[in-house]
Amino acid sequence: MNYLLLQSMIGTEIEKARELLLQNEVVAIPTETVYGLAGNALSSVAVSKIFEAKNRPHFDPLIVHVSSISEISKYVEEIPELTFKLMEHFWPGPLTVLLPKKSCIPDLTTSGLNEVGIRIPNHATTLELLKSLHFPLAAPSANPFGYISPTSAQHVEDQLGEKIPYILNGGNCSVGIESTVLRVQHNEIEVLRLGGISIESLQRFTPNIRIHEHSTSSPAAPGMLTSHYAPRKPIYVGNIRELMHSFASQKIGVLSFKEDFQIESQRILSKTGSFAEAASNLFAYLRELDQMNVDVILAEFLPNENLGRAINDKLKRASSK
Ligand code: TXA
Ligand code: MG
Repeated sequence: MNYLLLQSMIGTEIEKARELLLQNEVVAIPTETVYGLAGNALSSVAVSKIFEAKNRPHFDPLIVHVSSISEISKYVEEIPELTFKLMEHFWPGPLTVLLPKKSCIPDLTTSGLNEVGIRIPNHATTLELLKSLHFPLAAPSANPFGYISPTSAQHVEDQLGEKIPYILNGGNCSVGIESTVLRVQHNEIEVLRLGGISIESLQRFTPNIRIHEHSTSSPAAPGMLTSHYAPRKPIYVGNIRELMHSFASQKIGVLSFKEDFQIESQRILSKTGSFAEAASNLFAYLRELDQMNVDVILAEFLPNENLGRAINDKLKRASSK
């Protein structure tokens, strides 16, 4: 089917989403982190449609979403004890674990890698949808490759509306940044993407945690290319007051953590300095600033702790040109 000429629909009908998915179509789904672009993870046909709609390179593997821990033995070979503990503690929630895949997961889903990323999302609508299906859902963030991830159904419609038949509306995403991606090896946690589960909360399970520093040439998680969360406008991250001086001749937009810079085009992530609130506002505010009549966006790093670390990572990537 070709949806190019059709208006995609935003709605709350789980049954409609289910029927499309059964026909190997793709549907945008809500999760607590960001909206995903979902398809049958066991079907190469559905998975190729995901890559196509997102314009995503085939070397970037997809996360597989399930509704219960008991199900995952169908898809993975073995689960290290520490991984199991993390799953039990953080699921449903913003944690993706990498595990050796069974052959029922197509190579296309994992971009030819032996491991599959799996998570249980914490969103009632999507959990109900998953329970009604006999297959898991592969779902990357529902944004065109390289742009900011969507945290509302409207964000998805704005960018992929003409390419997908249905957007299941589950309101605004409560966490607002993507899941933390990790694997356990030799009793050590290796974090490949910082996200909604903080390093501090992982430290309660083991002191042995390694955070993969990203590089453009050989990213730890294939999707972790430097300019991954980029808005279209140039974004500079540093001391906002100094940056305002340097860019005095241009129209500026400001994205601050908690300070009010008293200019018209600004967004404050959390006036009370809450990391969780800042995370839930980050992508929506970046989009809003991107759409304002400004030449550049000036932002600042948050304290490098808890979710601040993941937010800083996204700001760094957004600002790399
Ligand atoms: O919160 C999330 O994780 C959201 C929601 C929709 O669940 N999904 C998401 O998917 O952010 P995506 O595709 O935008 O990012 C997935 C990241 C990519 O960086 C990808 O490279 C990495 O996870 N990843 C997935 N499977 C992997 C694998 N088998 N090995 C290494 N990295 C993997
Ligand atoms: Mg993404």
